[in-house]
Amino acid sequence: MIYLDNASTTYPKPSTVLSAMERYMRECGVSPGRGGYSAANDAERMVADVRRKLTQLVSGSDPAHMVFTGSCTDALNLALHGVLREGDHVITTMLEHNSVSRPLETLRARGMITLTRVAFNSDGFIDPADIAAAITPQTRLIAVSHASNVIGTIQPVAEVGKIAAEHGAYYLLDAAQTVGVVDIDVAAWHVDLLAFPAHKELLGPPGLGALYVGSNVEIAAYRQGGTGADSAHPVQPDEWPAHLEAGTPNTVGIAGLAAALAALNPAKALAHIRTMLARFEEGVSEVERVRNVCPAPIDARVGTCALIIDGMDAEDVGAVLDESFDIAARAGLHCAPYTHRVLGTFPAGALRISPGPFTTAQEIDAAVNAIREVAASA
Ligand SMILES: Cc1ncc(COP(=O)(O)O)c(C=O)c1O
Repeated sequence: MIYLDNASTTYPKPSTVLSAMERYMRECGVSPGRGGYSAANDAERMVADVRRKLTQLVSGSDPAHMVFTGSCTDALNLALHGVLREGDHVITTMLEHNSVSRPLETLRARGMITLTRVAFNSDGFIDPADIAAAITPQTRLIAVSHASNVIGTIQPVAEVGKIAAEHGAYYLLDAAQTVGVVDIDVAAWHVDLLAFPAHKELLGPPGLGALYVGSNVEIAAYRQGGTGADSAHPVQPDEWPAHLEAGTPNTVGIAGLAAALAALNPAKALAHIRTMLARFEEGVSEVERVRNVCPAPIDARVGTCALIIDGMDAEDVGAVLDESFDIAARAGLHCAPYTHRVLGTFPAGALRISPGPFTTAQEIDAAVNAIREVAASA
């Protein structure tokens, strides 16, 4: 298989990640900190070490506020349901993934919040001035994707953070597509809530994500349960990270993520991915009937592009690539319907190509040739 769906999840994972997960399950495998015996303490140390490394990675200040979650979606839900209150106004963008859009629409449908969704320009970038213009006295939260999962454009997140800080609104950044390839600085950018998954560019396993919460954020525990300590406390304890971490954590995933972090080289990975993407885009640029729906400059994007073949349904293109060429690429709306509305590709969607750190030039050339053949048959 030629795998070009790394924006969904990176594949393959480094073998060190797989072996760390197996080793953890064989040699430790117990719940962290819950028993007070030595294996539990080993597990707790391992979890604490990854918490500390992730905090450093995003320039956070307090590892206790790096909360492990089941996914990026889970982290985003924790943030949105935890901070929003009756009567709040939220500003978000047309670039969001459904894991931001749907919780917000749900809260709006319940009559709890009002919502402003700002658009992006023809190059794929939001304008921070649109966000500033949308602020009202009720604006409690600004929720923005660091990079689009459809067209890959990296947003002006530092400017948005400045606006949020000036107006006293919380700032939630969805870093699903950037953590592991783009440097993140929650302190410099005034980010109050940062959500990200382990399984994309961090090259960790699925079933794991994290939410970093700034120390001044008032956030309710959106779920309650066991924390391994304070068992006599009738409700969720206020101490971090237990405040937001109910239930047994995904220790095997965290062990895999530890191995992934040990080998992480964001700048090198991004340079390779961009080289592969540029090769692909150049290859298909001359192919008749193929249109890249938002060809922003490569150095302003993570490794994703979306294209359509005139006269063909995107889902059909994806199916032919799979069945006839053994190429895995994602067709459709990519869980980002508002993005496709602005791009003019709703409801059919587009074909998304997303190379990863292990994609080779030969694979890209094979994909270009396959697209050429499919387009010729259209
Ligand atoms: C921009 C963005 N946000 C959030 C998510 C949700 O991530 P997960 O599926 O790991 O929960 C994704 C996944 O594709 C994404 O691309």
